[in-house]
Amino acid sequence: MDKELLLEVKNLSCFYEGKRKGLKKPERKQVLKNVSLKIYKDEIVGLVGESGCGKSTLSKAILGLITDCEGDVIHYSKLPQMVFQDPFSSLNPEKSILWILEEPLRAQGVPKQERKERALKMLDRIGLGEGYANRKPDELSGGQRQRVAIASAIITHPKFLIADEPVSALDVTVQAQILRLMKELKDEFDLSYLFISHDLDVIYQICDRVMVMRNGEIVEENETQKLFDDPKHPYTKKLLNT
Ligand SMILES: Nc1ncnc2c1ncn2[C@@H]1O[C@H](COP(=O)(O)OP(=O)(O)OP(=O)(O)O)[C@@H](O)[C@H]1O
Ligand SMILES: [Mg+2]
Repeated sequence: MDKELLLEVKNLSCFYEGKRKGLKKPERKQVLKNVSLKIYKDEIVGLVGESGCGKSTLSKAILGLITDCEGDVIHYSKLPQMVFQDPFSSLNPEKSILWILEEPLRAQGVPKQERKERALKMLDRIGLGEGYANRKPDELSGGQRQRVAIASAIITHPKFLIADEPVSALDVTVQAQILRLMKELKDEFDLSYLFISHDLDVIYQICDRVMVMRNGEIVEENETQKLFDDPKHPYTKKLLNT
């Protein structure tokens, strides 16, 4: 049976307007160059590349947040949910953890009692338990906050999640715990991930397939083990040697 396709990006190019010294008119700067990719059900696809190469721009373009783009982004399921690097800025500091977990369900009109039950169950699933329900985000560690951010992204059962450097702000032991949790949740909730990171060790731990981006272009793509065993592009070789 053919794999179920969730997202297709075809020949996507994106541009920002940038001002440069000495120029009166803003310049149209190309940040993504002819990017094509497919994401299927049940897979974790990594996107790796140096700072500034266009990884976050690609995730924004997938969500339709970049105005100046050419090419196609085709969603075959609901829009993906996002998880960001800094869970502190993505969680409302005024609200309790329970409120934060209930919010996506509230937006869907889920009744109060069911909302609370599902939020408490999710809290338990991410290893935080009811004792955390009434705490505020600043009373949690970075790793715990990232657990809450992931939980709130998947509580409405999306099919597809984009995680943009979700463990980059965490130390290595906490990184490993969050990666393990994300893998477990992927199976339990039937999720696919586009997993963005500049860190090849992290990519190796979680991804089934990897795309390497350089200056807004995908220069190489392969199954994770094959890419690490036998990199083809000089840039991939360079990344693997550093
Ligand atoms: N709103 C914007 N306006 C103009 N230029 C931008 C804007 N956002 C990003 N850029 C530029 O686009 C390029 C790609 O940025 P992007 O944030 O996609 O990189 P990234 O790969 O996510 O980097 P990092 O690993 O540091 O998060 C960079 O040169 C950046 O300076
Ligand atoms: Mg980024």
